[in-house]
Amino acid sequence: MKLTIDGLQVDNKTVFVRVDFNVPMKDGVITDDTRIRSALPTINYLIEKGAKVILASHFGRPKGERKPEMSLAPCAKHLSELINKPVAFVDDCIGPKVEEAVKALQPGDVLMLENLRYHNEETKNDPEFAKQLASLADVAINDAFGVSHRNAASVVGIADYIPMAAGFLLKKEIEALSAAVVHPKTPMAAIIGGAKVTDKISVISNLLPKVDV
Ligand code: 3PG
Repeated sequence: MKLTIDGLQVDNKTVFVRVDFNVPMKDGVITDDTRIRSALPTINYLIEKGAKVILASHFGRPKGERKPEMSLAPCAKHLSELINKPVAFVDDCIGPKVEEAVKALQPGDVLMLENLRYHNEETKNDPEFAKQLASLADVAINDAFGVSHRNAASVVGIADYIPMAAGFLLKKEIEALSAAVVHPKTPMAAIIGGAKVTDKISVISNLLPKVDV
């Protein structure tokens, strides 16, 4: 098993948490908050440990442009309602404003950064951008299962600069997936959903020899 959040020293540390808050939204209203709720075990654990929690995510595919309809502000507000405590929000993910917001954090505070993909460097896994993200925190957690197949700065590159471990959601998903594909109980049927079919083709090809139906 890979390094997981419970094997990493997070007490009173500043922790960069990559989440996947790429949730369905209509006119600024979240229509399905499953992905935000799925990250709560990790977020609440870090709060209890007195960590300063920095949350970062992408939303949609703005391709390096600041598209207001792809802001993560509604997700920060919604998270604040779910955890019943303020979630600070800063309208960028790197730079002096972000550094100030991080400096203002007290143990147990939560700060949400703006959409990582407002910077093209995120999807290019640009090392300088990854370094800037890393410079905000002592350690990093990946709890963004839905984007862990992407070679992005906040998912992959950041781990070159600070220690990174899997969050509880990622851990759960790896365990579930391993149980199905590494130690499968047969007969096994696969039911596959999702909107982005080009990404699913390689998954289907990998699964075909393993499943019966
Ligand atoms: C998803 O919704 O599939 C993930 O958040 C990844 O998004 P992406 O396909 O735009 O990288």
